Order: sequence, then C-alpha cells, then structure tokens
Amino acid sequence: METKKEKYEFVLKQVEAILTDETDLIANLANVSALLKNTFHFFWVGFYWVKNMELVLGPFQGSVACTRIAKGKGVCGLTWFKKETSIVSDVSKFKGHIACNPHSKSEIVVPLIHQNTVVGVLDVDSDELNAFDLLDQCYLEKICHLIIKQSAFE
Ligand code: SME
Repeated sequence: METKKEKYEFVLKQVEAILTDETDLIANLANVSALLKNTFHFFWVGFYWVKNMELVLGPFQGSVACTRIAKGKGVCGLTWFKKETSIVSDVSKFKGHIACNPHSKSEIVVPLIHQNTVVGVLDVDSDELNAFDLLDQCYLEKICHLIIKQSAFE
C-alpha cells in the first residue's frame, strides 16, 4: 500500500502538471481542491480568498460551507492573522472554531502568501480526529507555494 508520503509525491507531480500552461487562478484552485479531495478522501477541501479584508469562499470540494470569515476568526481567520499554517487535532477544543459541518473533526489551514501578504488560505477538514501532521503541512505548503508562483492574480 502507498504511504501518505508517496501519495503526496504523486499529488505534487500532478499539481505541477495542472499548473503548467494554466495561469487562471480559479481554474487552478478548483483542480487542486478536486485532486486533494479525490486522493485523500478528506471530508472538505477548499480555498478562501482575501477580498475587501474578509476571507470569501472560493473553489472547494465537499458540502456547503460558510462564505465569509473575518480576520482572526476561526482556524482560517487565525491562519490569515498569524501568516502561518495551523493544525487543529480536535476542532471541538479550538475556541472560536467556525463549525460549518458537524462531521468535521480536525483540520489544517495553510496560508497562500504573495509578496509577504496573505492572499488566501487552503482549508482541509477531516471527519477523523488528529488527521494532520507535519507531513501534510510540508506538502500542502509546497502546493500552495506552487499555486502562487504559477497563477496570475492581482
Ligand atoms: N474550519 C473553518 C471554517 C471553514 S469550514 O470548515 C469549511 C474555520 O474554523 O476557520
């Protein structure tokens, strides 16, 4: 059976292929969220983008989610504020967690940073406790870095 690292190595190659010759941001975010959801069967995978000083829901795979998140609020807003990846092993113990769906048990949120500014976040939710570790962080950060490098946006 493939290890998580092997799966991420293959995902990384596929992300590179997806981003080659395509700079449209929405197209790239949509395909990357589909790739992550289908490979790892996470409960929810999606992007929030900074618009007028709020995080606004972008391309995602999974159930209906909340559309706007203020800076500092929830795991996504905190990640934006800190400019650092957040791993929450049990969302019920995270004060201020924004519960879009009761099935979500743990999550990782990675900031997308352009010119030292957070322009969006990648939010990945699992229906299992303690689903994310430094390996997820390492590869998801690489993926977010590639998206920023290859996509065109303001
Ligand atoms: N988990 C997020 C909210 C977004 S939904 O889970 C899709 C948070 O607390 O920031």
